[in-house]
Amino acid sequence: MKITYLFWIIISLAVCLGIIVLVVKLMAKKAPAPLKKSPVHYARISSHDDLDDSFMKMYDLPWKPDREYPKSVPEEVEKVIDTIESISPIVTEMSSRLGDPDINPKEISKLIITDQGLTSFILKRVNSPYYRLAQKVDNIFNAIVILGYNEIYRIVMEERTSRIGIKPSREEWVHANLTSTIAAYLSGTSRIGVQGGIMVTLGMLHDIAKTVMEKSLAPPEGEFSIDPRERLRQETELYGIDHAALGGILARRWQMPERLIKAIEQHHWPMFWPVREIGQVSGDTVKELAILSISDIAAKNYLKQNIFGSYIGDDYYRFIKKQPKIESIITPEISRDLNRIKLMGGFTDPDTSEQPDASIDRR
Ligand SMILES: [Fe+2]
Ligand SMILES: [Fe+2]
Repeated sequence: MKITYLFWIIISLAVCLGIIVLVVKLMAKKAPAPLKKSPVHYARISSHDDLDDSFMKMYDLPWKPDREYPKSVPEEVEKVIDTIESISPIVTEMSSRLGDPDINPKEISKLIITDQGLTSFILKRVNSPYYRLAQKVDNIFNAIVILGYNEIYRIVMEERTSRIGIKPSREEWVHANLTSTIAAYLSGTSRIGVQGGIMVTLGMLHDIAKTVMEKSLAPPEGEFSIDPRERLRQETELYGIDHAALGGILARRWQMPERLIKAIEQHHWPMFWPVREIGQVSGDTVKELAILSISDIAAKNYLKQNIFGSYIGDDYYRFIKKQPKIESIITPEISRDLNRIKLMGGFTDPDTSEQPDASIDRR
């Protein structure tokens, strides 16, 4: 009896062991193959990139700006700069806080409410018909919670620059807000390690010197070209400095962070040199420049000018891991926000169902 009992125990154990071995083998077969790493060459600048470089022809240009910006400013321009006050430190402070993962609406609202004019400007804007909020917002904390940091920060920058006399034209205002929205979106989706707050700032401020030039310096005989490269050449010829370099000088005088200053100064470089070259001469700003220049061109194209694709090379799109086509930059996720900005600026679009009755009073 005992032997039979022992025999059956051994048989049972053997069967169990067999089943376990079979299950382990089957599981091993079904285990997914290790994930292939994403194509690193998109986010790398090296001489080994296996890319079709036919796009390189676009960098053969008859004129390019000087990468060594003049240390001295032409006298006439200097006089203009001297009349501009320094921008409020709230802009720089908010810009740096937006990159902080521990940011909270309480802290930001504390910063904003120190200025009564800024507070009422934000509340007036937030309660404008364009946000279509169901309830009236009567404090900055709720405004931040409802609209988000980026939206509030854009309004802050607009009020602060306007306060020191830099009031952009309608078109410039829309361009800055569109660029800023697209750039913030790209910084999040491309995941190349660029802070959204920095991109919002750059979107809003990159062309600030255009406003200064248009308001304070003699215009050209004809109009400025809509071709952004040609416009830089015209500005350099006419004023001895272009708006990118002048923007950098203003940002430096306002004691903004060095990285921001450089990105403003260099924001047109991607239209003239390949990403690999810019990565070599300005490795600390190449990511910001790639996102900013792609957003800049997409914003121009979105507003009205059909210039997408011919100013920024495919290498920059690859660098930020995007396809070089407008659908990969302006996605349905942001088109509602972009449309709202366009309408706020008074640009009506016959295709939209969100047309307001009148354009907003922005100031
Ligand atoms: Fe520009
Ligand atoms: Fe621009």
